[in-house]
Amino acid sequence: MEKLLLVEDDPALQFTIQLALEEKGYAVEAASTTSEAIERLAENAYPIVITDIYIDERTGLDVLDAAKRKDPHCAVILMTGRGTVETVMAATRGGAFDYIAKPFDLDVMMDAVERAEAARAEQEGEAEEEDMPETEMIGVSPGMVEVYKVVSRVAPTDATVVLEGETGTGKDLVARMIHRFSGARASQPFVPVDCGAIAPTLLESELFGAMRGAFTGADRDRVGVFEAANRGTVFLDEIGDIELSFQLALLRFLENHEIRPVGASRAKKVDVRIVAATNRDLQHMVEDGKFREDLWHRLNVVRIVMPPLRERRGDVPLLARFFLNKFNRLYSREVKLTESGIKALQDYTWPGNVRQLQHLIERLSVLAERVDAAAVLQALTVMESRDKPVETLADAEEEQIRRVLSATGGNKSKAAQILGIERKTLYRKLDRMKL
Ligand SMILES: Nc1ncnc2c1ncn2[C@@H]1O[C@H](COP(=O)(O)OP(=O)(O)OP(=O)(O)O)[C@@H](O)[C@H]1O
Ligand SMILES: [Mg+2]
Repeated sequence: MEKLLLVEDDPALQFTIQLALEEKGYAVEAASTTSEAIERLAENAYPIVITDIYIDERTGLDVLDAAKRKDPHCAVILMTGRGTVETVMAATRGGAFDYIAKPFDLDVMMDAVERAEAARAEQEGEAEEEDMPETEMIGVSPGMVEVYKVVSRVAPTDATVVLEGETGTGKDLVARMIHRFSGARASQPFVPVDCGAIAPTLLESELFGAMRGAFTGADRDRVGVFEAANRGTVFLDEIGDIELSFQLALLRFLENHEIRPVGASRAKKVDVRIVAATNRDLQHMVEDGKFREDLWHRLNVVRIVMPPLRERRGDVPLLARFFLNKFNRLYSREVKLTESGIKALQDYTWPGNVRQLQHLIERLSVLAERVDAAAVLQALTVMESRDKPVETLADAEEEQIRRVLSATGGNKSKAAQILGIERKTLYRKLDRMKL
């Protein structure tokens, strides 16, 4: 028999609802005050709670809160004769299952209770199947706990956050986590923008939007990301890749949260939260004059630096198990992780961090029978030699540039001509080669 808590201060109504529910087979416990309800909730978990909103000095929202704290899956049905936008919003935000306006037909209430019960049954089934949600962050090392602490403090605020860290350390995951725990924003859009992948000339219209006819090909108004994500979160990934010329526009936006679509005459305000990420060292870029210092300060309200995997080797076994479970399930395999396998994984330096570990485990889950030291070392050798050609190509290019430069006696215009590239391009390459 399903247990149910009913909180209602009107004795007649309390009696009527209780009777109807008991007829349906529910074990109803009734409370007439909020303190009585909250006390009961502190002691017992109820799968379903029905509560009036205006009861005494505290309200049904406090009951909702207490019920959710005891059991996040608890289905809470709120009822009131004085529903306002604010109370409905607060109830929704607090995770209420349903909201019923008084006076109501008993059938309406019974129907809500049945739906609540069905929803709960479904949830329990799900929880058994997948033990970890997709975006769950694995890691209990001090460095990660530090990250969680900052995330939990900053997520519910509107503060701008900049995430730094090597490739594959989980910046994307943290950005999504910040959005997910941001309270009201969480139900609004999360829009990622890969600033490095969008041509610098298009970034402005991508972010701010553009009016019809603003440039060739703009045959209708284009809503920018900042507007599309209104009341939500924009994730500016690879922020270190945006050109100096656009950095000023972004700075202005961060200062006033106003957008003026390309070709528009008027600006409008939007409410978006910015999370930015980069695997470059922004401070270094500021020192080198490649990133505006004022923009850096604006972004840097809260800075989270993701620790590389080699600095938290204790998390390697947890991550390896997590990924192995995932891929075993995905590929219907039963590959086991051995002690020697764990040791080999922990000894490696992981330049590609968690992403690389994940790839390696995926590969092994398909190809190996056991993840032991031999299998790990072999897979690492394959991965490393597969990644090599890219380096060799870059090496070959550098070699060629050096040869041509020495042949032209250091004349860069001539060298660029021979190499078949623009002089600017050659300068850029030389810059990268530190020549
Ligand atoms: N702590 C973690 N627990 C579980 N999975 C993780 C963790 N960190 C990263 N991952 C996984 O590793 C992969 C890479 O992570 P993510 O995309 O967040 O890295 P990133 O820091 O954004 O890298 P890049 O700088 O290359 O964009 C993703 O598949 C992500 O789910
Ligand atoms: Mg990323």
